[in-house]
Amino acid sequence: MPSPGVAELKRVGAGREAEIFAWDEGRVLRLARSPFHGRYVERERIALKAAGRCGAPAPAVYERVDVDGRPGLVMERLSGHDMLSGMLLRPWELLLIGPVLGSLHAALHEIRAPAELPDLRADVAERLQSDLVPADVREAGLHALEHLPDGDRLYHGDLHPGNVLRRGRRFSLIDWKNAARADPAADVARTKLLLVGAWIPGLGPRLPQLVLTPFRLLLYAGYRIAYRHRRRLRDGATKAWRPVLAAARLAEDIPQERRRLLGIARRGLRGA
Ligand SMILES: Nc1ncnc2c1ncn2[C@@H]1O[C@H](COP(=O)(O)OP(=O)(O)O)[C@@H](O)[C@H]1O
Ligand SMILES: [Mg+2]
Repeated sequence: MPSPGVAELKRVGAGREAEIFAWDEGRVLRLARSPFHGRYVERERIALKAAGRCGAPAPAVYERVDVDGRPGLVMERLSGHDMLSGMLLRPWELLLIGPVLGSLHAALHEIRAPAELPDLRADVAERLQSDLVPADVREAGLHALEHLPDGDRLYHGDLHPGNVLRRGRRFSLIDWKNAARADPAADVARTKLLLVGAWIPGLGPRLPQLVLTPFRLLLYAGYRIAYRHRRRLRDGATKAWRPVLAAARLAEDIPQERRRLLGIARRGLRGA
């Protein structure tokens, strides 16, 4: 059977990087927006397989399918809503969400990453080469990266409430395109960047979103307490990763975040 074109598919979800379409019974196709993101789709496939083998809460993964030149991955269709929209509708859930994210993340970091996943340090070094990273930040970031540790754990790289689907008491982690092999502290540092300050698409310009900052700090505090309850972190480990990951995120080209990311990167990398 010839494979369908995008126009014939029914869209059931969308994010900044991908669109999700209904596929066979109980399955969806996560199709990257960019035709050049095949290797991220492959990373997601490998990470989802490893997560599934180890019983981590994530959709089951099936075949790779390209549609209209865009790379995609067929996976289990999950019901329920993402925790970000849940939280915007029921703000008191903020107190639940932090601990859920912290426990999920700590459990994930018990999993040894498959060797086929890229090492995060190599991945970050590559992102720092982007034209969107100013030369001084690139140089300081690459230097700081040399002193950061390797790791062997499953790194999700995008853990935030918009990437956790909830149905009743069941929580599943989606959106594994950034998956890598890494020091878990790097994943915690990345989640802090996202929880506290990522621009939230669909919620208007960046400036008015700043009123949410105290709530976001509360969310991060709940996450961090729950994480530390289950896993130890070396002192200063997340702090060391933070400016380097902020510099690497510049490559994601999010104009609303650029000033903040540059501030975090330049302050943290001073003297590096
Ligand atoms: N396995 C799935 N089952 C059902 N809906 C999904 C699934 N994966 C993603 N979605 C929906 O699509 C949206 C975007 O998916 P995501 O993988 O997070 O893409 P992006 O990388 O663009 O953020 C999610 O917020 C969710 O609503
Ligand atoms: Mg997402």
